[in-house]
Amino acid sequence: MPMAGIYGPEDLGGSLAAHPAPQSRQQQAHGRELTMPSLEWTPEVERATAHLYERVKNVISPVEWPLMAPYVKAINELKVTRNAVILAHNYQTPEIFHCVADIVGDSLQLAIEATKVKSDIIIQCGVHFMAETSKILNPNKTVLIPDSRAGCSLAASITGADVRLLRERFPGVPVVAYVNTSADVKAEVDICCTSSNAVQVVESLNAPTVIFLPDQYLARYVASQTKVKIIAWKGACEVHERFTGDELRAYREADPSVQIIAHPECPPDVLAEADFTGSTAHMINWVRNKHPKRVVMITECSMADNVQAELPDVEMVRPCNLCPHMKRITLAKILDSLVYLREEVVIDPMIAEKARRSVERMINLKN
Ligand code: 13P
Ligand code: SF4
Repeated sequence: MPMAGIYGPEDLGGSLAAHPAPQSRQQQAHGRELTMPSLEWTPEVERATAHLYERVKNVISPVEWPLMAPYVKAINELKVTRNAVILAHNYQTPEIFHCVADIVGDSLQLAIEATKVKSDIIIQCGVHFMAETSKILNPNKTVLIPDSRAGCSLAASITGADVRLLRERFPGVPVVAYVNTSADVKAEVDICCTSSNAVQVVESLNAPTVIFLPDQYLARYVASQTKVKIIAWKGACEVHERFTGDELRAYREADPSVQIIAHPECPPDVLAEADFTGSTAHMINWVRNKHPKRVVMITECSMADNVQAELPDVEMVRPCNLCPHMKRITLAKILDSLVYLREEVVIDPMIAEKARRSVERMINLKN
């Protein structure tokens, strides 16, 4: 179905307040402060982390590991002391993804897993909207993000006020928000979606037209897969919008047998060149199941490293666009989070309550 329109703040004519920075209270007194453990590389650290190094030895050199292992050991011990769980997105670096995370996945898997957490503290290794989603689903738990400046170009592209203006412009048209949005935006929409379930969510509304925000490229991808008319927003992921169809054609010319898989946040000319399109979890499963000889993963770089660590015999061709926001999360900051209980994610309870409805409506959709 062709797109029914694509809107941005300038098309709505309303006075749009500056996008509010993510709210974050400094260091709450939720428990005792711990002292920073020793971060020396010792024979004991080497022994205690040897089994973890086995998981990443294809992608982390023996020269780098002594700098990481003391943090890995300290984080894994303090998680137990704090009764904390670490949720990490597929774009986190291998030493986080494979060595300290308890739960890994795409945005949908992380949201679902967040509903099952029993620990007192959730440490979200990902970006701010992901930590907000965990807090929305766990209002009584402490949710920490190691660096609250870890934003997202999609989440920054739209506010709750923009959604209210869109509703005025298109009365009665249901609104679907990609989870890559602030709690403020989630509170204004009918339902959330992720790249794993976007088409299913849009079709679940049984409406002839749906407003889909904020990713214009994911909106185009959804429009190409459904008969529902899509009204989109002009947001884009700064990582995926940089890939081009020319770049993909060059990979194929260099090796016609290469497999190319892409995330649906990419522009349409990129997706047209791909052998498979799917969320980060679907891309990983595709590589696990097909086991190609050579594959180009058109998404954030760390994901190829994480898959490479698991599947050393698959050759990864890395076009490598880094997400600067995801890369703000480091072992040192995760350790700080555990020691000093920072940085706590705080959401106005009224907004969280409304946002929860949109997120839970998505999670409760039957497959
Ligand atoms: P998924 O992991 O849900 O595919 O999302 C990708 C992404 O860009 C998250 O920021
Ligand atoms: Fe946002 Fe794109 Fe980074 Fe994901 S990869 S957090 S969508 S900027």
